[in-house]
Amino acid sequence: MGTDTNIRTIEWLGDSVRLIDQTRLPLEFVHKETRDYRDIAESIRRLEVRGAPAIGVAAAMGITLAALEHQALSPDEFRAEVSSAAEFLNSTRPTAVNLAWAVARMLKVLRDPAVVDPHEAVRRLSAEAVSICEEDRELSRRIGEYGAALIDDGDGVLTHCNAGGLATAEGGTALAVIFAAVEQRKGVRAFADETRPLLQGARLTAWEFRQRGIDVTLLCDSAAASAMARGWVTKVVVGADRIARNGDVANKIGTFPLALAAREHGVPFYVAAPFSTLDPSLSSGALIPIEERDGSEVTEIQGVRVAPEGVSVYNPAFDVTPARLVTAIVTDAGVFRAPYEDTLFRDGTGLEA
Ligand code: MRU
Repeated sequence: MGTDTNIRTIEWLGDSVRLIDQTRLPLEFVHKETRDYRDIAESIRRLEVRGAPAIGVAAAMGITLAALEHQALSPDEFRAEVSSAAEFLNSTRPTAVNLAWAVARMLKVLRDPAVVDPHEAVRRLSAEAVSICEEDRELSRRIGEYGAALIDDGDGVLTHCNAGGLATAEGGTALAVIFAAVEQRKGVRAFADETRPLLQGARLTAWEFRQRGIDVTLLCDSAAASAMARGWVTKVVVGADRIARNGDVANKIGTFPLALAAREHGVPFYVAAPFSTLDPSLSSGALIPIEERDGSEVTEIQGVRVAPEGVSVYNPAFDVTPARLVTAIVTDAGVFRAPYEDTLFRDGTGLEA
């Protein structure tokens, strides 16, 4: 990776997509390259590419691959095939709204009546996918800038899951805030929850900190409250997969108990996310679809069985933190506080009405 600490999570190479296979980190840094949108769908399902903004970018590039594959068809057949590929990609994971948002943006281009010729549609779709990717880099930069103002010299900042460069096109959301504070030479002590069951914190967040040469203290999810009680953690910053109109936040499982512990200890709890994570169509977090994943993710760790055969498993991938536990939401448009419907969803959405 040279001296460039920015991670190119996913890239459009003209007729193929190259992504970092995150299931292999931190032991191996390997890329996967494909020309087949079905591989992209599989990569999203298997969490080779994961994190709300990154899966949106991946789906947009996947749709472009489908368009390339079908460009020799008649305009009607072409649109039907690419629409069905888009639907397939959209069905891979239900919680992060960035996926549906990126797919909707691509479908708008596909269905533009001014674009009839499939070859022209391919050009427009690839340009749109590249824009979604490039814009995401810029969103991360702005989130970092706004969020860093909330971090003080001497803070101990805890994060959960991986909301870094690996979860976005580049830069991150929650981690962008910590990275920007460190760049501003604030003395920050970073803490990362390991994030069971799939250990995104231990495998990916800790790796990103080390890539940047920043010290990080890794802890079991269940040690977070103790670290707060000792006064080590003075701020929490997490990412989000979907934010409802009332400010309820869906994020990686374990975020809600972290917010409860933060409230008990008087520790500010911040959420960092781009506007593409906002879902103005849902009035509250109770309506957010929560993905449940295979039980083997809990009964096994990295393929090694740790629980007896035959146990039942409950494995929700996300939980919902009620808005009342959230101190503020940082987006690319600024820092917003409750009531979110009147602040964030009025001024900070960047979404079309
Ligand atoms: O299941 P994952 O690894 O895709 O879950 C990712 C998270 O929950 C992240 O915290 C969230 O997507 C925010 S990423 C900028």
